[in-house]
Amino acid sequence: MTTTVPGHLDTRRTDARKKDIMRFRTVSGPDLTTRNDAYLAWQRDREQSDLWPYFRRYETSALTPRATVVSDTGVITRGPNFGGQDYLSLTRHPAVLEAAHQALRDYGPLTAGSPALGGATPLSKALEAGLAEALRTEHVMLFPTGWASGFGTIRALMHRRDHILLDKLSHDSLRQGAAASGATVEFFRHLDNDAVRRHLTGIRATDTKNAVLVVTEGVFSMDSDTPQLAELLSICREFGAQLMVDVAHDFGAMGEHGGGQPEVHGILGQVDFVVGAFSKTFATTGGFLATPSASAREFVRMFGGPQTFSSAITPVQTAVALAALGVVTSLEGADRRAAVRSVATRLREGLTARGLEVMGDVVCPVVPVLIGDTPTGRTASGLIARAGLVAHLVEQPAVASDASRFRMQAMADHTDEDIATAIGILDTCIREARLTAH
Ligand SMILES: Cc1ncc(COP(=O)(O)O)c(C=O)c1O
Repeated sequence: MTTTVPGHLDTRRTDARKKDIMRFRTVSGPDLTTRNDAYLAWQRDREQSDLWPYFRRYETSALTPRATVVSDTGVITRGPNFGGQDYLSLTRHPAVLEAAHQALRDYGPLTAGSPALGGATPLSKALEAGLAEALRTEHVMLFPTGWASGFGTIRALMHRRDHILLDKLSHDSLRQGAAASGATVEFFRHLDNDAVRRHLTGIRATDTKNAVLVVTEGVFSMDSDTPQLAELLSICREFGAQLMVDVAHDFGAMGEHGGGQPEVHGILGQVDFVVGAFSKTFATTGGFLATPSASAREFVRMFGGPQTFSSAITPVQTAVALAALGVVTSLEGADRRAAVRSVATRLREGLTARGLEVMGDVVCPVVPVLIGDTPTGRTASGLIARAGLVAHLVEQPAVASDASRFRMQAMADHTDEDIATAIGILDTCIREARLTAH
């Protein structure tokens, strides 16, 4: 591991450094097999110039504090791993691993099919009951992924005459669910409850007969910020609207008992629809919907696309999430939340002390380090890969154009040395990129 910058990156190709990916998103032409050739040429240029940070593969476990990743062009990065999502470091927990092995022995690697057609096991029932208790919400159902839980719930519940109000920075799964539902979709300014009130006033002035769903997230992971949830809930109540909160990043990892931002804001059990993912804190893929409404749950179970027409979460995934939930809700879970919070705090403070801009006002496991302009972001990401830091650059379309950033993901098991090395590499490489990218 080293923090020196090798300095032999080829940054001559202007398009590879500057052009936004969205310039290629909409294409026309009669031949679907050739009309994306310009996109491929641009991607290849980026790969050859060390300006393409995507689709790298982990040669080690993706969720150890130190790891090795390799790019398609053969660049090997070996060092602190701030690119994995295992906030409480539960993927290597003995109870979690034993649960996975036991489920494989008891139920095999696959379910019969979708939950509607025999896809559930006793483990699914136990996990739903455990989540219901942790979220203080009676009715829970599982989805094969976190993405599917947001998409499927909105797609099933909302209809053509209804209204959906989404935070402008809502996750792709929520936006796509809203678009697919056929309801009228409006976006409100990020975290702005006054804007929600204005939108709702407008909607209710002309339509009191149909449903309005307000959609937000517990923590916005690209920005590390959080809405004032209690106030938002009371605004929804005032206008006869329902609230959905996606707690993918905060459930299990934040809140005194792991109840995420709904617990932090004192409204655990009161939100109409809580959706979430297991992939950040619960050591496996999968997702869920929790709601106080029995009929909404049954309706989503029958009409929630990926829930009904896709194979169920596997027994191993279910067992892992259940075992992880056991840790999350125990005293050990509280210790692990304190540990990841401490890692995130030290990372934030160390980066800020070096003059780097760390985004967000909430200490959560994600620490976004703002770079800004696209060429600097891409150049810095090539430099850190060679310098020995595993971290992901996010740029458009995940964030706005020229708002690129490193999304550093803390884990409970990161050491002081991991943190110090990461800070040193980021500082050196971002400085170097600012000097050389243009
Ligand atoms: C807010 C939010 N919802 C849903 C998801 C999707 O979760 P998964 O990757 O487990 O499907 C993510 C992860 O990217 C997310 O950030």
